Amino acid sequence: MTLSRRHFIITAAGAAAASAFAQAAFADLPKLAKKETYKVGFAQTESNNPWRLAQTASMQDEAAKRGWQLVYTDAAGSAAKQVSDVNSMIAQGVDLIFLAPREEKPLIPAIFAARDAGIPVILLDRSVDATLAKPGVDYVTFIGSDFIEEGKRVGDWLVANANGKSKILELEGTTGSSPANDRKKGFDDVIAANSGFTILASQSGDFARDKGRQVAETLLQAHPDADVIYAHNDEMAIGAISAIEAAGKVPGKDILILSIDGGKEIVQLIIDGKVAAACECSPLFGPKAYDTAVAYAAGDTIPGKLINPDRFYDATNAKESLAAAY
Ligand code: AHR
Repeated sequence: MTLSRRHFIITAAGAAAASAFAQAAFADLPKLAKKETYKVGFAQTESNNPWRLAQTASMQDEAAKRGWQLVYTDAAGSAAKQVSDVNSMIAQGVDLIFLAPREEKPLIPAIFAARDAGIPVILLDRSVDATLAKPGVDYVTFIGSDFIEEGKRVGDWLVANANGKSKILELEGTTGSSPANDRKKGFDDVIAANSGFTILASQSGDFARDKGRQVAETLLQAHPDADVIYAHNDEMAIGAISAIEAAGKVPGKDILILSIDGGKEIVQLIIDGKVAAACECSPLFGPKAYDTAVAYAAGDTIPGKLINPDRFYDATNAKESLAAAY
């Protein structure tokens, strides 16, 4: 039997073999022909927050501006649906797929399937397990923020501005997703290196406002001495505000709130004094995503990662930054 990458079940045990096989057997990425216009796919992971809506709008607006046909799918928070969305794009014969993989591992077979079908994939905003699939080998490149750096910047801000606060509750993003893994690593490493700070508890709120509120409520009951909440995104930070108020405490005074995303709502909450600081994670991928596809078609060498620059907001710059926040 001839082996294809579809034969590898993506488990920890199969990971090394799958990666080695991928590199040995598929040294050439599918090419993108030079054309006036393209039919491309954008496989979105969910649409349950302003960040995702801004990302989708940016991708749709840019396609319309260029006169490209965009096949858009929304996986509604299901990695399994996202895999079948990619398979459907392959069946429709798109020229290239932009993929925002919900989690690091389950989308790997879909990337392999696109590649086997001769369709290049560009990862947007979230990445996949680097031991299983590689840029320049299995997909063209990753475009997005440096999530480890985002977590580190929030941790560094806390260490420099804690004002006596030190007992932290962490609201993690979607389990198994690259932003949750990396934002945790970046922040937790800073905290581990600063002995006065403790992470009392860390639990997933799935990047969602109401789940973030529920988890914050439970953690605040279990840890009434907590005085910092670090949320991996704005939605959970906003949910945490409701939980803090429901516990009879004052956000921004009794409990410092730190966030990542930096949308308009959170920048306004910094101005209002309820949120202490937020690292931006820009969702505006459209121009860069399509420019990268054009550069790839032109035969340019595309780096394995194209990192977006992120701003940082706190009380010192929130007012002047509000208009520019997404
Ligand atoms: O992958 C980026 C993250 O995903 C954003 O921080 C979050 O809001 C979104 O759902």
